[in-house]
Amino acid sequence: MTRAVGILGIGSYVPEKILTNNDLEKMVDTSDAWITERTGIRQRHIAAKDEATSDLAFKAAVAALDDARVKAEELDLVICATASPDHAFPSVACLVQERLGAVKAAAFDLGAGCSGFVYSLAVASQMIQNGLYDKILIIGAETLSRIMNWQDRNTCVLFGDGAGAAVVGAVDEGLGVLGIDLGSDGSGAYHLYQPAGGSRRPASAATVAANQHTIHMNGREVFKFAIKILGRTSLRALEKAGMKPEELDLLFSHQANLRIITVAAKRLRIPMEKVWVDVDKYANTSAASIPIALREAQDAGVLKKGDKLLLCGFGAGLTWAAIVLRWAK
Ligand code: UT7
Repeated sequence: MTRAVGILGIGSYVPEKILTNNDLEKMVDTSDAWITERTGIRQRHIAAKDEATSDLAFKAAVAALDDARVKAEELDLVICATASPDHAFPSVACLVQERLGAVKAAAFDLGAGCSGFVYSLAVASQMIQNGLYDKILIIGAETLSRIMNWQDRNTCVLFGDGAGAAVVGAVDEGLGVLGIDLGSDGSGAYHLYQPAGGSRRPASAATVAANQHTIHMNGREVFKFAIKILGRTSLRALEKAGMKPEELDLLFSHQANLRIITVAAKRLRIPMEKVWVDVDKYANTSAASIPIALREAQDAGVLKKGDKLLLCGFGAGLTWAAIVLRWAK
């Protein structure tokens, strides 16, 4: 027996410290004008020295559980999508599971770059639909500032820290997840990656000296890929949901660059009034960007029960993901 599955509660957390474009002007050869025009970003939040990814994830998780009125002990599974975990192992999900007291939950991290939250929602919804589990906590959490080369203007102006989380469970028939499209093209793997610190290039004094533990990105290639894939994956998810783009109430794209979001909306012929944009405030928080946006939209009072939403993302892998859902709260 299958059942309808959706988001029961949503939460987010961003660190207190804000780094503005003007602050960055003093650190690298860049300008507020360049960053704003090319990306739409005005500021980003940066984790405190003693804050790691699991700390951000925990706070977002608590907010999501509160919002869903679900207790940690009820959770069957915790999934954390991240590219910047506290440690290579154990997973961030295990650290959060312990801290929440989610005593009966299984836990694992999911690696799909910035598409990770949408991937996690796809995985969780299927596990619940098939009856394996009832309640799953999914998290997107990043402290990308820790793997940033603060001398590289091509990357350091683009990213921010933050976390978002959702409790996923059974919802009323006709609501929740209606269409899913996931994909990957590993031929673009090295357009966006962290060269050292893994088994290919283990950490050494030389790799540290060469800044090989930071994000390396071919921005133009990732840009071209994003422009190509966002419309395509969105249309596939819409088709599976039996829905037309014009029926959508709100579009939540991964918040990487306002130009990319605008092109995606244009491809789908969705007016910008129906597109959530907060990249100006948080920059690119990778796997956290979509749940942060959802919580912000909920707080702003724009999400209504039954609203038709499209979540779409792209990122390291290269990966992409889109989900069409009807808001169930
Ligand atoms: O979540 C997925 C993660 N990644 C992304 O989403 C990134 C996708 N890519 C992008 O968003 C854009 O490609 C960027 C924002 C990274 C770059 O924008 P662009 O319009 O593609 O610029 P560009 O790379 O073509 O660079 C144009 C110029 C270059 O100078 P020259 O070669 O024309 O003299 C760059 O050196 O802008 C220069 N530039 C900068 N100037 C001031 C690059 N970064 C900066 C900077 N400040 N921060």
